[in-house]
Amino acid sequence: MATHPAEKGFSHKKLERNVTLLGALALAVVTIGGIVEIAPLFWIDNTVEKVVGMRPYTPLELAGRNIYMREGCYTCHSQMIRPFRDEVERYGHYSLAAESMYDHPFQWGSKRTGPDLARVGGRYSDEWHKAHLIDPRSVVPESIMPPYAFLADRDLEPGDMANDLTALYRVGVPYTKADIAKANDDIQAQANPDAGAGDLQTRYPKAQVRDFDGDPSRVTEMDALVAYLQMLGTLVDVEKAAPQEQAHAPAPAGAKAP
Ligand code: HEC
Repeated sequence: MATHPAEKGFSHKKLERNVTLLGALALAVVTIGGIVEIAPLFWIDNTVEKVVGMRPYTPLELAGRNIYMREGCYTCHSQMIRPFRDEVERYGHYSLAAESMYDHPFQWGSKRTGPDLARVGGRYSDEWHKAHLIDPRSVVPESIMPPYAFLADRDLEPGDMANDLTALYRVGVPYTKADIAKANDDIQAQANPDAGAGDLQTRYPKAQVRDFDGDPSRVTEMDALVAYLQMLGTLVDVEKAAPQEQAHAPAPAGAKAP
Protein backbone atom coordinates (compact mmCIF):
# COMPACT_ATOMS: atom_id res chain seq x y z
CA MET A 1 0.00 0.00 0.00
CA ALA A 2 1.31 3.47 -0.93
CA THR A 3 1.99 5.82 1.98
CA HIS A 4 0.04 9.03 2.09
CA PRO A 5 2.21 11.87 0.69
CA ALA A 6 1.78 13.86 3.89
CA GLU A 7 3.36 11.08 5.93
CA LYS A 8 6.59 11.23 3.98
CA GLY A 9 9.30 13.69 4.97
CA PHE A 10 8.07 16.88 6.64
CA SER A 11 4.55 16.24 7.78
CA HIS A 12 1.89 18.88 8.16
CA LYS A 13 0.60 16.95 11.15
CA LYS A 14 3.79 17.77 13.02
CA LEU A 15 3.40 21.46 12.18
CA GLU A 16 -0.24 21.63 13.17
CA ARG A 17 0.29 19.93 16.51
CA ASN A 18 3.30 21.99 17.60
CA VAL A 19 2.06 25.45 18.61
CA THR A 20 5.56 26.90 18.92
CA LEU A 21 6.66 25.67 15.52
CA LEU A 22 3.40 26.80 13.90
CA GLY A 23 3.68 30.19 15.58
CA ALA A 24 7.31 30.66 14.53
CA LEU A 25 6.67 29.70 10.92
CA ALA A 26 3.49 31.81 10.72
CA LEU A 27 5.49 34.77 12.03
CA ALA A 28 8.16 34.18 9.38
CA VAL A 29 5.56 34.16 6.60
CA VAL A 30 3.83 37.30 7.88
CA THR A 31 7.21 39.04 8.22
CA ILE A 32 8.08 38.38 4.61
CA GLY A 33 4.70 39.74 3.52
CA GLY A 34 5.14 42.76 5.75
CA ILE A 35 8.60 43.57 4.43
CA VAL A 36 7.40 43.32 0.85
CA GLU A 37 4.67 45.87 1.60
CA ILE A 38 6.61 48.22 3.84
CA ALA A 39 10.11 48.28 2.38
CA PRO A 40 9.25 50.28 -0.78
CA LEU A 41 8.02 53.11 1.46
CA PHE A 42 11.59 53.66 2.70
CA TRP A 43 12.57 54.45 -0.86
CA ILE A 44 9.40 56.39 -1.69
CA ASP A 45 11.46 59.12 -3.37
CA ASN A 46 12.67 56.56 -5.89
CA THR A 47 9.30 54.81 -6.07
CA VAL A 48 7.48 57.92 -7.26
CA GLU A 49 9.14 58.84 -10.55
CA LYS A 50 9.57 62.57 -10.95
CA VAL A 51 7.84 63.99 -13.97
CA VAL A 52 8.15 67.37 -15.64
CA GLY A 53 5.28 69.78 -15.08
CA MET A 54 4.09 68.72 -11.60
CA ARG A 55 3.63 71.67 -9.28
CA PRO A 56 1.70 72.29 -6.07
CA TYR A 57 -1.88 73.58 -6.31
CA THR A 58 -2.44 77.33 -6.55
CA PRO A 59 -4.34 78.70 -3.54
CA LEU A 60 -7.52 79.02 -5.65
CA GLU A 61 -7.25 75.42 -6.87
CA LEU A 62 -6.55 74.33 -3.31
CA ALA A 63 -9.61 76.21 -2.04
CA GLY A 64 -11.64 74.45 -4.77
CA ARG A 65 -10.18 71.14 -3.70
CA ASN A 66 -11.20 71.87 -0.11
CA ILE A 67 -14.78 72.47 -1.32
CA TYR A 68 -14.58 69.23 -3.32
CA MET A 69 -13.74 67.38 -0.10
CA ARG A 70 -16.27 69.29 1.99
CA GLU A 71 -19.07 68.36 -0.42
CA GLY A 72 -17.97 64.73 -0.59
CA CYS A 73 -17.52 64.65 -4.36
CA TYR A 74 -15.00 61.85 -3.76
CA THR A 75 -17.77 59.56 -2.55
CA CYS A 76 -18.93 59.25 -6.17
CA HIS A 77 -15.84 60.22 -8.17
CA SER A 78 -12.42 58.58 -8.20
CA GLN A 79 -9.28 60.29 -9.47
CA MET A 80 -7.20 57.38 -10.61
CA ILE A 81 -7.27 56.08 -14.17
CA ARG A 82 -6.06 52.51 -14.15
CA PRO A 83 -3.86 51.10 -16.93
CA PHE A 84 -6.67 49.08 -18.53
CA ARG A 85 -7.60 49.56 -22.12
CA ASP A 86 -11.22 50.51 -21.45
CA GLU A 87 -10.22 53.14 -18.89
CA VAL A 88 -7.46 54.60 -21.04
CA GLU A 89 -9.82 54.89 -23.98
CA ARG A 90 -12.53 56.49 -21.92
CA TYR A 91 -10.54 58.83 -19.70
CA GLY A 92 -7.12 59.27 -21.31
CA HIS A 93 -3.63 58.23 -20.24
CA TYR A 94 -3.55 56.24 -16.99
CA SER A 95 -2.66 58.22 -13.87
CA LEU A 96 1.00 58.51 -12.94
CA ALA A 97 2.10 58.25 -9.30
CA ALA A 98 3.70 61.69 -9.52
CA GLU A 99 0.40 63.28 -10.48
CA SER A 100 -0.90 62.82 -6.95
CA MET A 101 2.41 63.34 -5.14
CA TYR A 102 1.24 66.68 -3.66
CA ASP A 103 -2.22 65.41 -2.70
CA HIS A 104 -2.93 65.39 1.02
CA PRO A 105 -5.24 63.54 1.30
CA PHE A 106 -5.20 61.73 -2.06
CA GLN A 107 -8.47 61.43 -3.98
CA TRP A 108 -7.88 58.09 -5.71
CA GLY A 109 -11.13 56.62 -4.45
CA SER A 110 -12.53 53.18 -4.99
CA LYS A 111 -16.14 54.00 -5.79
CA ARG A 112 -17.30 55.33 -9.11
CA THR A 113 -20.93 56.29 -9.11
CA GLY A 114 -19.87 59.00 -11.53
CA PRO A 115 -16.93 59.03 -13.96
CA ASP A 116 -13.28 59.29 -12.96
CA LEU A 117 -12.22 62.94 -12.83
CA ALA A 118 -8.42 62.58 -12.93
CA ARG A 119 -8.27 64.13 -16.44
CA VAL A 120 -11.47 66.13 -16.59
CA GLY A 121 -9.52 69.43 -16.87
CA GLY A 122 -10.10 71.15 -20.22
CA ARG A 123 -12.65 68.58 -21.35
CA TYR A 124 -15.61 70.91 -20.88
CA SER A 125 -16.04 74.69 -20.85
CA ASP A 126 -16.37 76.67 -17.62
CA GLU A 127 -19.99 77.38 -18.61
CA TRP A 128 -20.66 73.65 -18.90
CA HIS A 129 -19.23 73.00 -15.41
CA LYS A 130 -21.25 75.83 -13.92
CA ALA A 131 -24.49 74.64 -15.57
CA HIS A 132 -23.71 71.04 -14.58
CA LEU A 133 -23.00 71.88 -10.94
CA ILE A 134 -26.09 74.10 -10.67
CA ASP A 135 -28.33 71.45 -12.24
CA PRO A 136 -26.67 68.28 -13.62
CA ARG A 137 -29.91 67.30 -15.42
CA SER A 138 -29.81 70.49 -17.52
CA VAL A 139 -26.80 69.17 -19.45
CA VAL A 140 -26.95 65.40 -18.82
CA PRO A 141 -30.67 64.47 -18.65
CA GLU A 142 -30.08 60.98 -17.23
CA SER A 143 -27.64 62.19 -14.53
CA ILE A 144 -28.14 61.13 -10.92
CA MET A 145 -25.62 63.65 -9.59
CA PRO A 146 -27.03 65.99 -6.91
CA PRO A 147 -27.22 69.74 -7.70
CA TYR A 148 -24.78 72.17 -6.04
CA ALA A 149 -26.42 75.46 -7.11
CA PHE A 150 -25.53 77.23 -3.84
CA LEU A 151 -21.85 77.25 -4.81
CA ALA A 152 -22.54 80.05 -7.30
CA ASP A 153 -24.19 82.21 -4.62
CA ARG A 154 -21.61 81.82 -1.90
CA ASP A 155 -18.61 84.12 -1.69
CA LEU A 156 -15.39 82.17 -1.39
CA GLU A 157 -14.30 82.43 2.23
CA PRO A 158 -11.32 80.10 2.31
CA GLY A 159 -9.92 81.39 5.61
CA ASP A 160 -6.22 82.13 5.71
CA MET A 161 -4.77 80.18 2.79
CA ALA A 162 -1.25 80.81 4.15
CA ASN A 163 -2.11 78.29 6.88
CA ASP A 164 -3.20 75.69 4.33
CA LEU A 165 -0.01 76.15 2.34
CA THR A 166 2.13 76.04 5.48
CA ALA A 167 0.51 72.78 6.60
CA LEU A 168 1.14 71.23 3.18
CA TYR A 169 4.70 72.58 3.18
CA ARG A 170 5.31 70.76 6.47
CA VAL A 171 4.34 67.44 4.92
CA GLY A 172 6.65 67.96 1.96
CA VAL A 173 4.81 70.02 -0.66
CA PRO A 174 7.43 72.43 -2.05
CA TYR A 175 5.67 75.77 -1.61
CA THR A 176 8.13 78.68 -1.48
CA LYS A 177 8.18 81.53 1.04
CA ALA A 178 6.76 83.80 -1.67
CA ASP A 179 3.91 81.35 -2.35
CA ILE A 180 2.97 81.31 1.32
CA ALA A 181 3.29 85.08 1.75
CA LYS A 182 1.11 85.76 -1.30
CA ALA A 183 -1.39 82.93 -0.69
CA ASN A 184 -4.41 85.15 -0.07
CA ASP A 185 -3.57 87.64 -2.83
CA ASP A 186 -3.07 84.77 -5.27
CA ILE A 187 -6.76 83.85 -4.96
CA GLN A 188 -7.71 87.26 -6.33
CA ALA A 189 -4.85 87.20 -8.83
CA GLN A 190 -6.17 84.01 -10.40
CA ALA A 191 -9.94 84.52 -10.31
CA ASN A 192 -10.42 88.27 -10.49
CA PRO A 193 -9.54 89.60 -13.96
CA ASP A 194 -9.27 93.14 -12.59
CA ALA A 195 -6.66 92.20 -9.99
CA GLY A 196 -3.94 91.27 -12.50
CA ALA A 197 -2.12 87.94 -12.31
CA GLY A 198 1.21 89.38 -11.13
CA ASP A 199 3.85 86.66 -11.05
CA LEU A 200 1.29 83.89 -10.36
CA GLN A 201 2.00 82.04 -13.58
CA THR A 202 5.75 82.19 -13.04
CA ARG A 203 5.42 80.56 -9.65
CA TYR A 204 2.63 78.20 -10.79
CA PRO A 205 3.21 77.28 -14.46
CA LYS A 206 0.06 76.48 -16.45
CA ALA A 207 -2.14 78.21 -13.86
CA GLN A 208 -5.36 79.23 -15.61
CA VAL A 209 -6.15 82.85 -14.86
CA ARG A 210 -9.70 84.02 -15.53
CA ASP A 211 -13.14 84.45 -14.08
CA PHE A 212 -14.47 80.89 -13.91
CA ASP A 213 -18.11 81.32 -12.94
CA GLY A 214 -19.29 84.01 -15.34
CA ASP A 215 -19.59 86.59 -12.57
CA PRO A 216 -16.44 88.73 -12.63
CA SER A 217 -17.74 91.02 -9.88
CA ARG A 218 -16.87 88.57 -7.09
CA VAL A 219 -15.02 85.35 -6.31
CA THR A 220 -17.42 82.55 -5.39
CA GLU A 221 -17.06 78.95 -4.30
CA MET A 222 -18.05 78.07 -7.87
CA ASP A 223 -14.96 79.92 -9.15
CA ALA A 224 -12.69 77.87 -6.89
CA LEU A 225 -14.29 74.50 -7.63
CA VAL A 226 -14.32 75.05 -11.40
CA ALA A 227 -10.68 76.24 -11.28
CA TYR A 228 -9.81 72.98 -9.53
CA LEU A 229 -11.77 70.80 -11.99
CA GLN A 230 -10.25 72.60 -14.99
CA MET A 231 -6.67 71.90 -13.87
CA LEU A 232 -7.14 68.22 -13.04
CA GLY A 233 -4.77 66.13 -15.14
CA THR A 234 -3.49 69.06 -17.20
CA LEU A 235 -0.08 69.68 -15.64
CA VAL A 236 1.95 66.77 -16.95
CA ASP A 237 2.53 66.01 -20.61
CA VAL A 238 1.79 62.33 -20.00
CA GLU A 239 2.76 61.10 -23.45
CA LYS A 240 6.28 62.40 -22.89
CA ALA A 241 6.49 61.57 -19.20
CA ALA A 242 5.64 57.87 -19.34
CA PRO A 243 6.17 55.11 -21.85
CA GLN A 244 2.95 54.05 -23.52
CA GLU A 245 1.37 50.95 -22.09
CA GLN A 246 1.54 47.69 -23.97
CA ALA A 247 -2.04 47.70 -25.18
CA HIS A 248 -1.15 50.68 -27.33
CA ALA A 249 2.25 49.49 -28.51
CA PRO A 250 2.47 48.53 -32.17
CA ALA A 251 2.27 44.79 -32.77
CA PRO A 252 5.70 43.15 -33.11
CA ALA A 253 6.84 42.51 -36.68
CA GLY A 254 5.33 39.35 -38.11
CA ALA A 255 2.52 39.21 -35.54
CA LYS A 256 -0.79 38.03 -36.93
CA ALA A 257 -4.00 39.90 -36.26
CA PRO A 258 -6.09 38.02 -33.70
C1 HEC B 1 -24.23 60.80 -5.85
C2 HEC B 1 -23.02 60.71 -6.61
C3 HEC B 1 -22.32 62.00 -7.07
C4 HEC B 1 -21.83 63.01 -6.30
C5 HEC B 1 -21.89 63.17 -4.79
C6 HEC B 1 -21.16 63.90 -7.20
N1 HEC B 1 -21.28 63.45 -8.48
FE1 HEC B 1 -20.42 64.28 -10.15
N2 HEC B 1 -21.29 62.86 -11.30
C7 HEC B 1 -22.07 61.83 -10.87
C8 HEC B 1 -22.58 61.07 -12.01
C9 HEC B 1 -23.50 59.87 -11.93
C10 HEC B 1 -22.06 61.70 -13.17
C11 HEC B 1 -22.30 61.30 -14.63
C12 HEC B 1 -23.50 62.02 -15.19
C13 HEC B 1 -23.27 63.50 -15.30
O1 HEC B 1 -22.39 63.92 -16.08
O2 HEC B 1 -23.94 64.27 -14.58
C14 HEC B 1 -21.24 62.80 -12.69
C15 HEC B 1 -20.51 63.65 -13.51
C16 HEC B 1 -19.64 64.63 -13.09
C17 HEC B 1 -18.77 65.39 -13.94
C18 HEC B 1 -18.59 65.20 -15.45
C19 HEC B 1 -17.52 64.15 -15.67
C20 HEC B 1 -17.37 63.70 -17.10
O3 HEC B 1 -16.27 63.25 -17.44
O4 HEC B 1 -18.34 63.79 -17.87
C21 HEC B 1 -18.10 66.28 -13.14
C22 HEC B 1 -17.06 67.29 -13.57
C23 HEC B 1 -18.57 66.07 -11.79
N3 HEC B 1 -19.50 65.06 -11.80
C24 HEC B 1 -18.15 66.79 -10.69
C25 HEC B 1 -18.65 66.62 -9.39
C26 HEC B 1 -18.31 67.47 -8.29
C27 HEC B 1 -17.35 68.64 -8.36
C28 HEC B 1 -18.99 67.00 -7.21
C29 HEC B 1 -19.02 67.59 -5.82
C30 HEC B 1 -19.42 68.98 -5.70
C31 HEC B 1 -19.74 65.84 -7.64
N4 HEC B 1 -19.51 65.65 -8.98
C32 HEC B 1 -20.53 65.07 -6.81
C33 HEC B 1 -22.34 61.50 -9.55
C34 HEC B 1 -21.99 62.28 -8.45
